[in-house]
Order: sequence, then structure tokens, then C-alpha cells
Amino acid sequence: MSNLSRRNVLSLGVALGMVTAANAVPAWASTAGADPWWVWDDEIDRLLAELVDGGRVPAVNAALRSWTDNADPLPAGLPADLADWLRRVNRLPSWADPAKLRRAADFNRRKDTYLFLLYGLGSGIMSTVIPREARSVYWSAGGADMQDRAAKTFTFGYDLSEAGAFEPSGQFVVTANKTRLVHAAVRHLLPRSAHWRAVADEQVPISNGDILVTFHSLGTFVHRKLKDWHVPMSAADEDAFLHQWQVAIHLLGVRDEFIPQTWAAADAQSVQVLTPLLAPTPEGQELAADLLGLTAQIDLGVTRGFLNEFVRYVLSDEVGDWLGLPRDYAAATLIRTGWPAYIAFREGLLPIAPAGFYLFDQFVRALAMLFLDKGTSPTSTPITIPTGNRPG
Ligand code: HEM
Repeated sequence: MSNLSRRNVLSLGVALGMVTAANAVPAWASTAGADPWWVWDDEIDRLLAELVDGGRVPAVNAALRSWTDNADPLPAGLPADLADWLRRVNRLPSWADPAKLRRAADFNRRKDTYLFLLYGLGSGIMSTVIPREARSVYWSAGGADMQDRAAKTFTFGYDLSEAGAFEPSGQFVVTANKTRLVHAAVRHLLPRSAHWRAVADEQVPISNGDILVTFHSLGTFVHRKLKDWHVPMSAADEDAFLHQWQVAIHLLGVRDEFIPQTWAAADAQSVQVLTPLLAPTPEGQELAADLLGLTAQIDLGVTRGFLNEFVRYVLSDEVGDWLGLPRDYAAATLIRTGWPAYIAFREGLLPIAPAGFYLFDQFVRALAMLFLDKGTSPTSTPITIPTGNRPG
């Protein structure tokens, strides 16, 4: 189907054979002075290195536990320099637009089922074919317990998507800052892992460039898919969704000069820096098997073959082949015809429910419940700063 191959080309480009050697990162054609592959988060990286080496991370984690809402005062018991840093960064950037952020929250609510599905089965599995990300996640402490790690990542997605995420009663600003601390610790810890050093193509992980790549696997990818799937979105919705992500990546420590200003710029950057990077790695293959195994444990009302084919449908057959997902051609046919019809009916563009409607409906609802269940108990899997790498 021309539509299908167009989607592959647009969103991933792997069909064009644009995949380079797994260890090469594409040059960053940026007008900005600095190169995002060589920018990290110097001030907090230095601080976290000291805290890790001084054995002070468990005390920091204990202090941070009760700190959840954007309006919460900083908890007592933090080292003075960390408290000072958090006081400076734990706020929205001056360019954040509250009206757009409110619209983004409303958009997230209106489109939630597609978003859960695309972030979960699309971005989540795509992260396993981004070699740097797969290797660092695998060889960091969290790689040994994917269930726990997936739950923490849910916390981030939930806090970002929630109504009022960026308002004083929301939690996203705090969650983003905790994540920024985790990343800073990982930059100090992973280079000490002999396993990671043996496979890594970089000295220090999680540069600004890497974070932008991950943003493209999340926000840019999801936006592109919603367009390709003809999900109705107003220009204001699209703009608000971008704005929410711009603020999010700012809060994760990406310099403003690198943040794409339009979806067109984001799409172009994604084609330039994400698409050519995608490649399988042994670490990513194992992570994907773990993630899909976890998802398959939940009763989604569909077979494992359907789940595998949905991943192929969303991410392309190339990615499905890299991950060794067995084929289920009957499920593939059902998805290819049934999913566009399902969307059209849901969006009021088809008068009668198409065949397979209830199967798809149960599937997206079960995925949403899975997400929301985790979301309602975020304190059960708080984001904590790691003190070591994957054992073994
Ligand atoms: C940890 C989100 C980019 C590697 C985390 C956590 C969140 C998160 C929520 C805390 C949960 C946990 O500890 O597992 C994000 C978002 C990103 C991003 C939203 C970009 C938009 C990256 C990139 C890399 C990376 C680019 C590597 C190339 C890691 C690692 C951990 C982590 C290794 C620690 C896992 C552990 O606990 O051992 N990230 N991340 N992240 N992230 Fe990221």
C-alpha cells in the first residue's frame, strides 16, 4: 500500500536504507554555535558526581521522596548547593505560555487513547532501536528491572499529560527536575561500567543531542503519526502539543537554542538525527523483548501476534524484523484495514462501526487503563537517583 510505505518513509525513513553504521552519529547541521552532541549539563553533572562519590545519594533520594508538587517548597535535608541549583531551575522558562500549556493538557485528554498507544507501543519500543539509548538503559541500574523502569517512565508521561501538569498543583516540573538529576548521575556512573564502555561510541552519555533524539522518538513521532492517521487536530492543538514538549525538554536541560521552534523544524531535525541512527543492538533486542513481554502479560484482549503486528504497523517492518517479532499475517491484515476505519469512526468520519471495532476499542482502552493505573499511584514508583550500574 502506498499509504503504508509513505508512512514508513515519513516517520522512520528506514525503508530508504538511510541507516548508517550503528556507531556513527550524524553531524548536527545547526545554525547554533554549539554542537548538541557535545553539550551536557555541566553544573549539575559536577554536583551529582560529587554526591555519588561521597555516598550521599541515598540521603538525597530520601529527602526528595516527599517533594512531588510543583508548588511544594524544596524539602529540608538537601545539600546546600543542590538546593541552590534546584531553586534556580525548578520553574517554567520565561517563554512558557500558560494558555498553550492548558490547551496541551486538554488536547492530551481528548486524544488520550491514541497518545497512550503511540507513546507506549511506538516511542517505547522505538527507544530500543536507538543504540545509544538502548545501551545506556540496559547497562544502567534500571536495565536490570524493566518493569520498575517502565513504571517510572510512565510517571513521567503521566505527569506530563495530566491536566494542570505545569501548574502549581501539577507535578511535572518536579518530575522533570528529578529526571534531570537521574541523567546527571548516569553521566557519572555509566562511564565506570566496563560493559557500557565496551559497546559505547561516546565517553559521556545523554548529551543535549541525545535528549533531542529521544524527544523526536516521543513528541515528533507521535505528532507525525497523528497527522498520518488523519486524527483531526486544530493548528492551535498542534502548536500547544509542541509547546508542551518544548517546555519539557527545556526542563530536562536542553539549551533553548537547540529546541525546534516549529513542527516542520522538528520533523526536519528528526529526519536528520533520529532516522539515520536507528539500528538494532543486542541490548535493544533484549529490552524490547522484556517490554513486549510485560505488555503481553496484561490482558489487552488481543493475541501476542496482534501486539507484535501492531508494533510493526506503527514502527515499520524493518524495526519489527530487527527485533525479531514473529509474523502474524492475519492480524497484520486486520490492523491495516481495521485501524484506519476505527479511527475514522471514532472521529465521527464514518457513520457505522467498522468490523473489528470492538477489538480495537478494547485494545486501546486496556492500554489506557494500564497507563492510568500506574498514573494514579505514582508514589509507588518514585523516580530515584541511581547509585550504581547494572550489576554483573
Ligand atoms: C532515566 C525520561 C532521554 C537514559 C530516566 C527517567 C525518566 C527519563 C523519566 C527516570 C526513570 C528511571 O530512573 O528509570 C527521559 C526523557 C528523555 C530522556 C523524557 C528525553 C526526552 C534519555 C536519553 C538517554 C537516557 C537520551 C540515553 C541516551 C536514561 C538512563 C536512565 C534514565 C540510563 C536511568 C535508568 C536507571 O535508573 O538506571 N529518563 N529520558 N534518557 N534515562 Fe532518560
